[in-house]
Amino acid sequence: MKLFAVAQPGIEEITAQELKELGIEGKVVPGGVEFEGGLREIYLTNLWLRSANRVLVRLCTFRAKHFAELVRKASKCPWSEFITPELPIKIRATSRHSKLYHTKAIEERVLRAIKEAVGFEPQTTTYEDEGTSVIVRFENDICTISINSSGALLHKRGYRVKDVEAPLRENLAAAMVLLSGWRGDVPLIDPFCGSGTIPIEAAMIGANVPPGTRREFAFMKWKNFDRELWESIKEEALKRVKEVKVPILGFDIDPTAVEAAVENSRTAGVERWVEFKNLSFPKLSFEKAFVITNPPYGVRLSFKNTSLIYRQLGHWVRKSFKEFKLLFLSPNRRLAREVSPEVRMLTYFDNGGIKVGLYLVEA
Ligand SMILES: C[S@@+](CC[C@H](N)C(=O)[O-])C[C@H]1O[C@@H](n2cnc3c(N)ncnc32)[C@H](O)[C@@H]1O
Repeated sequence: MKLFAVAQPGIEEITAQELKELGIEGKVVPGGVEFEGGLREIYLTNLWLRSANRVLVRLCTFRAKHFAELVRKASKCPWSEFITPELPIKIRATSRHSKLYHTKAIEERVLRAIKEAVGFEPQTTTYEDEGTSVIVRFENDICTISINSSGALLHKRGYRVKDVEAPLRENLAAAMVLLSGWRGDVPLIDPFCGSGTIPIEAAMIGANVPPGTRREFAFMKWKNFDRELWESIKEEALKRVKEVKVPILGFDIDPTAVEAAVENSRTAGVERWVEFKNLSFPKLSFEKAFVITNPPYGVRLSFKNTSLIYRQLGHWVRKSFKEFKLLFLSPNRRLAREVSPEVRMLTYFDNGGIKVGLYLVEA
């Protein structure tokens, strides 16, 4: 099967590297990584990919300029493995630079094509994680139809039981840790930890805990679901879990955020490797540290207040650690330079509707 790991623009290379570590060679394209495989690769990638949004199965690709052509060609796609009378389906279409641009009409025609192909009227749903979600993409009159093997987005690991304002998505937190090169051998600190996402993801990376063990996936409802294969892949993964031997610390000025972080780390099963404290820029002295963080910024904070926080972050890191790698998010270079004039931007991506750069300072 042709498979596709959807990754947010700016994150694709990190996802490709993760695939490589699973022994899968992929091709990076805007918005994700193309690769090939069977059920084993679908299970493995859904279980292990930390930075991706979802894993899609490419069902078919064809050119269509008229609705009749769309129905005719779409009805020839291999639907039968994924469409059953019990499973409701959700079809979502997008279109760019194509003659067929009315997405509701495209969705309606694809539903008609499925009905022709399987011989019954499938039930429909509006929830992506309820049944089979079908993604139809038109670009330059080329139609690509995919089945979402993940169900709910992969960042929903199932451990976030308590939220704070502006939490970072779990897959972005993991992407920051992976890109930093931290592998569990040096202390890691997040001085603005909020609900604890970065330290929790770091603990899972350091301990080799796969991110997908506590959730359901859409592929589990397919006719061809191989429970034995899935259980063996999971069992194999859990054998690789190891202890984290270095401190992973999270600090926040807000006590409710710290409570949320503690509770989330318990649900994630990593509480013995992380420690959260209600402190602001505490006194620390490690020879070496990785500081990975998502400082407060946003429309409601003035530049003056935010720049002070970024300046404090720079001072605190230089004072606390002899050698360090500091990775942080900033909505612009001016603010990033408040941390240090020597910042380097590694990549940028969308974080909750705001474009942010991921910056690095090293000493
Ligand atoms: C953008 S949020 C971090 C969200 C976090 N990454 C998550 O996933 O939940 C920024 C955090 O910085 C905290 N904060 C603001 N000023 C602070 C300070 N001076 N010292 C410590 N924490 C501070 C806020 O309470 C907030 O939780």
